[in-house]
Amino acid sequence: MKLKTCAGILFLMVLSTIAFQASGQDALRFSVDVDQPRFDIQPTMWGLFFEDINFAADGGLYAELVKNRSFEFPKPTEAWEVVGANFFSSPLQIVNRQEHPTNPRVARIRVAGEACLINEGFRGMGIREGEPYRFSLQMAVPEGAVDVRAALLGSDGSELGNVTLRAEGAGWQSLEGEFRATGSDAKARLKVCFLGQGLVEADMISLFPVNTWKQRRNGMRADLVQMLADMEPGFLRFPGGCIVEGRDLEKRYRWKNTVGDIGIRELVINRWNDENTRLTPDYFQTFGLGFYEYFLLSEDLGAEPVPILNCGMACQFNSAEVVAMEDMEPYVQDALDLIEFTNGAADTKWGGLRAEMGHPEPFGMTFLGIGNEQWGPQYFERYALFEEALGKAHPEIRLISTTGPMAGGPLFEYSAEALKDFHPALVDEHYYNTPQWFYDNVGRYDDYDRSSYKIFAGEYAAASVGMANPENRNVWETALAEAAFMTGLERNADVVHMASYAPLLAHAEAWQWTPDLIWFDNLRVVGTPNYQVQKLYATHAGTRGLALERTDGGGNGQDGIFSSAVWDEKEQALILKLVNRNAGTVPVTVALDTRKRFAGVAGVQVLRCDDLQAENSLDDPEHIAPVGSEIKAGRKQLALELAPRSLTVITLPQQH
Ligand code: AHR
Repeated sequence: MKLKTCAGILFLMVLSTIAFQASGQDALRFSVDVDQPRFDIQPTMWGLFFEDINFAADGGLYAELVKNRSFEFPKPTEAWEVVGANFFSSPLQIVNRQEHPTNPRVARIRVAGEACLINEGFRGMGIREGEPYRFSLQMAVPEGAVDVRAALLGSDGSELGNVTLRAEGAGWQSLEGEFRATGSDAKARLKVCFLGQGLVEADMISLFPVNTWKQRRNGMRADLVQMLADMEPGFLRFPGGCIVEGRDLEKRYRWKNTVGDIGIRELVINRWNDENTRLTPDYFQTFGLGFYEYFLLSEDLGAEPVPILNCGMACQFNSAEVVAMEDMEPYVQDALDLIEFTNGAADTKWGGLRAEMGHPEPFGMTFLGIGNEQWGPQYFERYALFEEALGKAHPEIRLISTTGPMAGGPLFEYSAEALKDFHPALVDEHYYNTPQWFYDNVGRYDDYDRSSYKIFAGEYAAASVGMANPENRNVWETALAEAAFMTGLERNADVVHMASYAPLLAHAEAWQWTPDLIWFDNLRVVGTPNYQVQKLYATHAGTRGLALERTDGGGNGQDGIFSSAVWDEKEQALILKLVNRNAGTVPVTVALDTRKRFAGVAGVQVLRCDDLQAENSLDDPEHIAPVGSEIKAGRKQLALELAPRSLTVITLPQQH
């Protein structure tokens, strides 16, 4: 059988004990103890870290196509062009209404025949031929009679569909209409023309694809959510990351400002907005994608929601501002109110808002993170307030604390020591480092004190060039190192209860941080090799950890081979993960220490590439992708050859 891979043409061998014996090399020998699982694998083991960085929310997952739909960007006309107007004569005024403190501005337009505005979208608008789109706005016509016509313009200026709406009466009203696009374009724009005679006011000018994820209004880009769903994640952490903290406290993430009517969610400048870069001098959070939507997404994905709340501290890499200890009460109250919002009955204040938004049943949140990657005594004195208040009021909620941004060193050591006085369910550790660090740290938890706290490996990624370097690429070298490291996490899943790569999403024309798990533009999406590794692990998570050891004297990682094994109770199958770091093929045998009988054939997924610098791209998204095959299994032994520079996942079902 011949298949095309990044390595060119790969001859996939259907291996059996006999085929293996023919290879002539001495095999590395393993044995797996199938019948005596060592511990449970948490259902949360492999999950997602979502942060609104790199246009991940507005301009990304959040499917709104109009940028600055409510004229609330600091420059109110940002992303809007008034057709035919010059500096001295424009039919457009931006009116600031003090009685609407969170959405004060509206567009007021004098219409004599026709007045048009054009919105540029987020690096253009991604439009697909034949797909339905929903245009909507809020509009009042205090004088005269005015209709509104919305038309999509392709990059060449031609129309790709339109809809005309008529206002009934003078007062504020919500109008909406749908139309189908007659062509595809990654860089379309929206032209909104007011037709007639008079004065019109408009706000929340919006265009969504109808076919969002699950066809939800105010919904998410279906192709991007599908990539997340395909991973079968155990949890979804949100909303970050540094945006939880904000550059200063004024711009911190406040969950209460992100729920309820989208028309009154107050816009905030994104922590990752960067006026000094060509890519993102215009990065704001409208919060159309807010806490309610994140909880709904978690539910859709079957993932445990893991919200992270501000703990009274702004980003310590920026202003490092902290709230005075005597002023901390509202922050703790935010946490208590969030529990009511997610888990409270519909007749409570915050549970009632959830019900009003469309979800009368509780979301059933059980985890809550306090602070992002905070450090120092200023963190622990604030964390103590949360642990005390929530421990009393909600002992059922599992709190997550943190050791800060480093995986070792004085800051880390300080936190690890300080944590001895607390009782978080999990502690969030972050590892951004070189591929070699990941290989060197495969055994990080082998000798971990089992009586100490459990680990949430909340953010990690191997950097091809160096930490925080914009030249970093998602090359195979990084993904292979992460795959090896993850054998160590899986082998220690009694300690490591959650792990997530970070960041998750990046717009190819609007990013601040690299590497990232999934890249996209306005129409396309690509899973990096790192994504393929995460997906293979998450979709083969298993339920019990097994002992898989070398019987020829080697340890995990020796000879460039890394391995772990789990049992899957639901599938009644043994799952092995084997990473070969070497440039050559390595034969291995795995003795099956068991009384069970297995099927004679195992499923195999191989992710490999000879070229460590190879990547997937929007033009070639499957360059590095798993290739499936089968191998024959002996009654008491598996034998196979591990391809050079590969991750191999083997699933051997029990025979019934
Ligand atoms: O993942 C990018 C950033 O890295 C996160 O916002 C922060 O938590 C970490 O420093």
